[in-house]
Amino acid sequence: MRIDVVSIFPDYLAPLDLSLIGKARADGVLDLAVHDLRDFTHDRHRTVDDTPYGGGAGMVMKAQPWAEALDAVLAQSDSGGKPHLVVPGPGGMPFTQAMARRLSDEPWLAFACGRYEGIDERVYEHARDELGLEVSVISLGDYVLNGGEVAVLAMVEAIARLVPGVIGNAASLVEESHEDGLLEYPLYTKPDPWNGRAVPEVLLSGNHAAIATWRHEQRLARTAFRRPDLLPPTVADVDVDVRLATPGDVPELFTLVRACWVQEAQANGILDVPALVEPIEALRASLDSTQTWVARRAGRMVGSVRTHVRGDSGDDLFVGRLCVAPDQQRRGLGRSLLELAESTAPDGIRSYSLITGAQSHDNIRLYKRAGYRLRRGEPEIPGTVELVKRRQT
Ligand SMILES: C[S@@+](CC[C@H](N)C(=O)[O-])C[C@H]1O[C@@H](n2cnc3c(N)ncnc32)[C@H](O)[C@@H]1O
Repeated sequence: MRIDVVSIFPDYLAPLDLSLIGKARADGVLDLAVHDLRDFTHDRHRTVDDTPYGGGAGMVMKAQPWAEALDAVLAQSDSGGKPHLVVPGPGGMPFTQAMARRLSDEPWLAFACGRYEGIDERVYEHARDELGLEVSVISLGDYVLNGGEVAVLAMVEAIARLVPGVIGNAASLVEESHEDGLLEYPLYTKPDPWNGRAVPEVLLSGNHAAIATWRHEQRLARTAFRRPDLLPPTVADVDVDVRLATPGDVPELFTLVRACWVQEAQANGILDVPALVEPIEALRASLDSTQTWVARRAGRMVGSVRTHVRGDSGDDLFVGRLCVAPDQQRRGLGRSLLELAESTAPDGIRSYSLITGAQSHDNIRLYKRAGYRLRRGEPEIPGTVELVKRRQT
C-alpha cells in the first residue's frame, strides 16, 4: 500500500517510523511519504493561510498550495492510478473499524492534514472535479483537535495494521474489539496469582470450548456495560431498554418470572413448573451460568430472556425463561427478546432450542412463527414440548 501525507508539520508524523508501521515501511510492505505543504508556496514567508471571506475568527488554509501539493503527489504515480484522498476533519464521517478495513483495501491513500480553521472548500471540489479523486472527510471523534496530524497518525495505524504483512500474526486481528461489533474479552498473562489476584479458572482448564464460551460471554457483558449502543438494535419498541441483567436486577426479575409463570401454570394445569419454584438464590446464581437479558419500559422491568450453550458438542443455544409481563404482552416484545437471544449466539452454534408447556398455545404459535419446529419424541420434562430451530449460516 502507498500512503502520502501532506502537512505543515512533517515532523509530527515521525512516529510512523516506529514499531510495526516503521518495520512495514522498512520491509517495503508500506510505501509511506510525508510532504511539507510549505514546499508548495512561492512567497518569502511560505504562507499557507489567509483570513476567511465573510469574516470570523481564525485563518483558512489557502487553495493554491494544496492544489500544487496534490499535483506533486499525483505526479508520483507510475501506473496512472490515483489515491483516495482522506481529509481529517471533525465534521466528517466517524472513523470506525469497518472504515479502516475498507480503506486498507485501497492501493493508495493520500491524507491532507488541515490546520487553523480548515482548508478552503474549493480544494475538495478541485480534487474531485479536476483531479478525479475520491475524497472522504473523516472524523476521529466528536471533539476538535488543533490539526489533522494526530488524526492521521491514528487512522494510518488502524488502517495499516490490517494490510497483509504488517502484523505478523493475522489471527490476532480476528477477535479484537469492534471487528464483529463487540468489545474484546478481558486478558490475562503470567504469573497466576499476581498480587493475590487469580486468573479466572476456566482459562487454566485447557477446555477450549469452555474458554470460547466464557470469552464470548465476557464480550457481551463488557459491551452491554461499556457500549450498549453497539449491541444489536433488537427491540423494535424504542421505549424499551434491554440490557444484560446484573445482581441488582434479581429481586425484580424474580417477581416478573413468578407473575409470568402463574399464567403458564394456569394454561397447563401444573404448579410444579421450574420457573415457579426456583428459589431467588438459584436465580441469582444463574446470572453467572447464563446470559440473562432484562427489558425495561419507563424504568419498569417488563421482560426477560436467558441463554446458555449446551449439547455434547456445545453447538446448541438454549433459550430459556423468555417472558413478558402479563399486561405488556402482544406488543412484539417476546419476539424481539427471542431475536436478541438468537443474535447473541457465539460462533459454532448450529441450533437454538427451547421448552414450553404443551398447552402454552400462544407461546408455541410465537415460536413456530419465528421458525421453530416441535422436536419429535418424548420431552425430558413431562407436560412440556421442545422446539428447535436450525441456525441460518
Ligand atoms: C481546529 S481544527 C478546525 C475545526 C473546524 N473549524 C471545525 O469547526 O470543524 C483544525 C484541523 O484539525 C483537524 N481536526 C480537528 N478535529 C478533528 C477530528 N475530530 N477528527 C479529525 N480531524 C480533526 C482537521 O484537519 C481540521 O482541519
